[in-house]
Amino acid sequence: MRYRRLGSTGTVVSTLCLGTMTFGNETDEAGSHAQLDRFVEAGGTFLDTADVYSRGISEEIVGRWLRGRPGVRDNLVIATKGRFPMGEGGNDAGLSRLHLTKALDASLGRLGVDAIDLYQAHAWDPMTPIEETLRFFDDAVRAGKIRYVGVSNFVGWQLQKAVLLARFAGLAPIVTVQPQYNLLARDIEHEVMPVCVNEGIGILPWSPLGGGWLTGKYRRDDLPTGATRLGENPNRGVEAYAGRNAAEQTWQVVDAVRAIAESRGVSMAAVSLAWLVDRPAVTSVILGARTVEQLDDNLTAADLVLTDDERARLDEASAPRVADYPYGRAGVDQQARRLPA
Ligand SMILES: NC(=O)c1ccc[n+]([C@@H]2O[C@H](COP(=O)([O-])OP(=O)(O)OC[C@H]3O[C@@H](n4cnc5c(N)ncnc54)[C@H](OP(=O)(O)O)[C@@H]3O)[C@@H](O)[C@H]2O)c1
Repeated sequence: MRYRRLGSTGTVVSTLCLGTMTFGNETDEAGSHAQLDRFVEAGGTFLDTADVYSRGISEEIVGRWLRGRPGVRDNLVIATKGRFPMGEGGNDAGLSRLHLTKALDASLGRLGVDAIDLYQAHAWDPMTPIEETLRFFDDAVRAGKIRYVGVSNFVGWQLQKAVLLARFAGLAPIVTVQPQYNLLARDIEHEVMPVCVNEGIGILPWSPLGGGWLTGKYRRDDLPTGATRLGENPNRGVEAYAGRNAAEQTWQVVDAVRAIAESRGVSMAAVSLAWLVDRPAVTSVILGARTVEQLDDNLTAADLVLTDDERARLDEASAPRVADYPYGRAGVDQQARRLPA
C-alpha cells in the first residue's frame, strides 16, 4: 500500500480508500465487516461513508465493526457526509446550520466516535448561502466534532468560491473534493482539477471503476445480466457510460485497459485504479465492492505503478471530447503568454 498527505494537511492516508455505499444494500453486515477487516489487513487507513448510504445503515455497520475491534479506530481516518434527505421534512436535507447540526450529531452517534476526521458537504445546496455552511464547519472543528472539511460533487466555481471564502474569513479550509472521476468520466479535468492543483486540494475520486464497466465484465453488443449493479438495471448502466460518452469511445477505453492488463498480467480493475491514483491532485481513490473477492482484486492496485507509455495509451483512448473553445486548443492558445526572447 502507498500513503499520501490528505490534500495539503499533515494527515496521511492510504492511496486506496474503502467506500461503504454497498454496505446494508448489496452487501450484508457480515460481508461488510469482512471487507473492512480485509482492507485494514492490506494496510488501508481511510474509510468513506455517508449518512444517506442505506439511510444510516452503512454508518451503523461501520460503527458496530469499530466497537468490535478495540484500537482499530486509532489507525483510521474516517470520512462521512451530510446534505441529502434523511427524512421528509423541509429541514431534513441541505447544507443549512439547522440540518447539518442534526446530521453531524446523528453520524457521530451511528459511527460511535467522538470526532469525524473528514466531514464532507455531499453536494452544493442552492438554498443555503455557502458562508452559513462554512461557518457551521468551522464551529464543528472548534467544538472538536470534526477535524477536516471536505466537499463533494461541487463544480469548479462552487469549489473556488468556498475555498476563497473560507480562507479570507479565517475559517477551517476545504481540504478535499470528492467527485465522480474515472477513465470513462473525466469531466472534472476542465474546471475542478485545475482548482485542486492551484489550491492544494486533494481529489477523492468516486466510482473509480465506472460502477463495474472498467473491470471488463460488460462486453460489446451484450447487455449486462445477472447479479451485478448494472445487471439489475441495465439501461442505467448503458446510459451512464456507453450512451453518454458515445458507445464507441467506451469500448475503446475498455479495450485499452484490457490490452495493458493482459501484457502486465494484472486485472483490468487494477490498471484502471492505478491510472487514477497517479492523476494530478488525487489523494486517494474510493473503492467500491460488493464482495470480498472484488475488494481483493481491487487491492491489487495498491502497488501497481503504470509506465509513462501505458499512461499515455490510456490518456489517449479516454481523452474527453471537447470543442476547440473554451477547453480545447483555441482556449489553451488564448491563455498562452511568453517572456520576450
Ligand atoms: N460522493 C458521492 O456522491 C459518491 C457517489 C458514489 C459513490 N461514492 C463513494 O465511492 C465509493 C465507490 O463508488 P462505486 O461503488 O460506484 O465504485 P465503482 O468501483 O465504480 O463500482 C463498484 C461496483 O463495481 C463492481 N465491481 C467492483 N470491483 C469489481 C471487480 N474487481 N470485479 C468485478 N466487479 C467489480 C461491483 O458491482 P457489481 O458486482 O454489483 O456489478 C461494485 O459494487 C462508494 O462506496 C462511496 O463511498 C460517493
